[in-house]
Formats: sequence, C-alpha cells, structure tokens
Amino acid sequence: VKGLCTEINGFSYPIDEWTNVPASILASVSRRLHVQPSHPVSLTRQLIESRFPSPTYIHYNNLSPVVTVSQNFDSLGFAADHPGRSRTDTYYINEHTVLRTHTSAHQADTFRKDDSEGYTISADVYRRDAIDRSHYPIFHQMEGARMWDRRKTPEGDIAKTVWSDVQRLPKRTLRVEDPNPTVNPERNPLQAKYHSIEEVEAMAAHLKRSLEDVIFELFSKATESAAAIGNTEMPPEEPLRVRWVEAYFPFTSPSWELEVFWQGDWLEVVGCGIVKQDLPINAGVPDKVGWAFGVGLERVAMLLFGIPDIRLFWSQDRRFLEQFSSNQPIKPFVPFSKYPACHKDVAFWLRSTSSSAGGGSRGNSQDFHENDIMEIVRNVAGDSVEDVRLVDEFSHPITARKSLCYRINYRSLERTLRNEEANELHQMVRERLVDQYGVELR
Ligand code: PHE
Repeated sequence: VKGLCTEINGFSYPIDEWTNVPASILASVSRRLHVQPSHPVSLTRQLIESRFPSPTYIHYNNLSPVVTVSQNFDSLGFAADHPGRSRTDTYYINEHTVLRTHTSAHQADTFRKDDSEGYTISADVYRRDAIDRSHYPIFHQMEGARMWDRRKTPEGDIAKTVWSDVQRLPKRTLRVEDPNPTVNPERNPLQAKYHSIEEVEAMAAHLKRSLEDVIFELFSKATESAAAIGNTEMPPEEPLRVRWVEAYFPFTSPSWELEVFWQGDWLEVVGCGIVKQDLPINAGVPDKVGWAFGVGLERVAMLLFGIPDIRLFWSQDRRFLEQFSSNQPIKPFVPFSKYPACHKDVAFWLRSTSSSAGGGSRGNSQDFHENDIMEIVRNVAGDSVEDVRLVDEFSHPITARKSLCYRINYRSLERTLRNEEANELHQMVRERLVDQYGVELR
C-alpha cells in the first residue's frame, strides 16, 4: 500500500492500512448538495441561515470535508475509545485523516480564526451507517455558534449583555415544554470552573429562543404551503409544539436536544449546548464563551418538503429536481411513481471468534460489524437498495456459532429493476461477504 495516494477535490492524500473510503463515496464528494441552486438541501440551509443574519453571524459553506482525526475527534474531547472513532463507523483516508463525520470538526479552527460574534457552517458529512429511508453515508449538517467576549464586557460578567441580546430576539408563539432546570449536577453539569450559573442561564435562554425561532420559521412555512394545497395530513392551525430534552455531547455542557411535534410524533431535530471552555482555551481565545448547535439538513428538508426517501436528494432525475425552486414557497414534494420492490435474503454463519460466543449486539463480533454488510451492499448496488434489515439471528446451542439473516430490499427510485439485475447484484453481495469476511453462506 505504501506510496499509493487517493485524490479528493484536487488534493492528494497517502493511503495506508486504515483507508476504508470506497470509490463510490469519493465520486460523490464533489456534489455539494448544500450549495446546489434550488436543491431542497440548499433551500433548507438558506432558510435557516436567514434566521442567523450578518453581521452577527458569518456563513461558511466551503470548508473541505477532509479533516484530521484531531479536528474531528481530539479537539472536541472525544474519548480515545469512543465508538465514533472506529473504522466501522467512520471513513478513514489514512490513519490521521478522515472524511468529517460532523460539522463540529471545524469548531476549534473557527473559534481560533473568527473574530465575529457568531457563525454557521454548512457542509457534507460522512458516516458508515445502516441503509434505510432516512440514512445515507453522506448527508449535510449545519453547525451554528454564538460567542461573547469577556474582554468586551464590563467586569467580564457577560450575563447582563446576553440577557439584553435575548430581549432583541424575535418573539414567536410556540408551545414550549422545558421541564428540566438549566443545569443538573449529574446529568447536565455547569462548567463551574469557567461559568457562573447566571451566565449559563442567560446563554441557555439565548440558545433556546434562537433555535425556537428557527423551528417556528421552518415549520410555519411548511404548514402554510401544505394548507394552501389542501394537504390534510399536515397539522391544523394550532401553535407549534416543541420540547427541550437533556442530552450529552463531549464538547458541550450543559447540552440539550430540541424536539418538534410533527404529524403525531416527537422528532429530534437539533443537538446543542454551552461550548466546553476547553475549546476556546485551546484555540487561544479563552475569553470567549457561548453556545453551539448542530442540525441535520436532510432531516429537516424531508419534513419540510415531505420527501419520503433520503436517496431522492441524490437523484439527478428532472422529476425530482424540477419540483424545487428558490422563488416559490415550500411546496410538498409530489412523489413520482414508486417502482416495484424485490427483496432477497442472505443468511450466513459468522466465522467463529472467541468474542462472538458472548452474543454481542446486532451481528457484531470481532471481525464483522453490521455496517460492513451495509458497505458491501452500497458498493455493489448503490442507490438501488432501499433498506437492509436483520431479520433473523441465531446462536448454535452447542458450537455457539452465530448465524445472521439480512433482508435486502432492492428498489430503484427511477426505474423498474429487472429480476435478473437484482439477482446479479445479490449474487455479488453474497460473494463479497465470503471474500471479505470469510462467512459461510447458508
Ligand atoms: N455534532 C453533533 C452531532 O453531529 C451536533 C452538535 C453540534 C451538538 C454542536 C452540540 C453542539 O450530533
């Protein structure tokens, strides 16, 4: 492997035994849906950005997806054994370089260089993950942050300044549930060494009102346009309901998730919190304190436009792309005909390893991870697979050998797949499972 390189956006990176980025992913790096005019991911980005106006916020949309392990994990305080670092979950270009798994990879650098009060960063992010209608190995996130500088505040106490900024935020009518105190000593601690409780109360209020404003903007637009075309599945005229739930991220404390009540379900849409002070300290700006959030753009776009399958965002089919425009209000997507599905099962015995006897979770043993079959299916069949599900799992009572059965649902969004085509793809998946993971087909 030594001496070989891979090329991404015109730059060359050496590869090594860590490399696990397939050609299919590399081929899509240049798509950048978040800046493609009239693309629903881009329209969603613009709508959210409009609630974080300049000059307070700078909008970054062109940061390279290639980052160091240190930017993506170390700088954010991820533990050395955090599962996100694993090659089963993350695309490595080489031992020290990954395709970013989240926009937070740019937090430290942005704090360091940015002397504005706030920013948003929108970008493509990459994760080895399941295959289903809401997961795709490339998706888009927006990160936002608002920082205050103690040096620019009388006595270094920013609580008063922040509260006066809270007063200037737009007033929206939402039904907000926020049952927990701002900090909880065990679950959601104050960073007592760096922040007073008054400061955190003020920053939390600013964070929560800012994000509630975004959600109001997005979801009232979706409701209006649905009502205009008589979509009765959309909720009637009642205040939008949101709730704040305690959360955990390695780089914020306290942390929350914001959930929205939409069509009968609570949906988690934003993760956020008070920035851990180690980040500004390590970035050489110890006097800055503030909040950050991250939101998945596809998640929001699917709700806003009623897009049923995440693969559609990658479609180059005019029947998809021509339904969206920056000049019209949000209008629900009208699905074009759904082509027939054809599912096929693959059952196999895992190679026995000492750790597989204990029964791990969801098909994980020492040398096989569920994401590995997902990756094989993606590389063989690309967007012609709608989902892959574990349908049976069995451990032999005597040998403790483990058998798994996965159901692969073949369905193109753009045409009818012939049965022979599906068979060929399936045959290839079976062969690769044997070649790459030494399984024994049943
Ligand atoms: N990066 C986090 C994620 O991908 C989201 C997040 C961003 C949380 C910023 C807190 C602050 O889940």
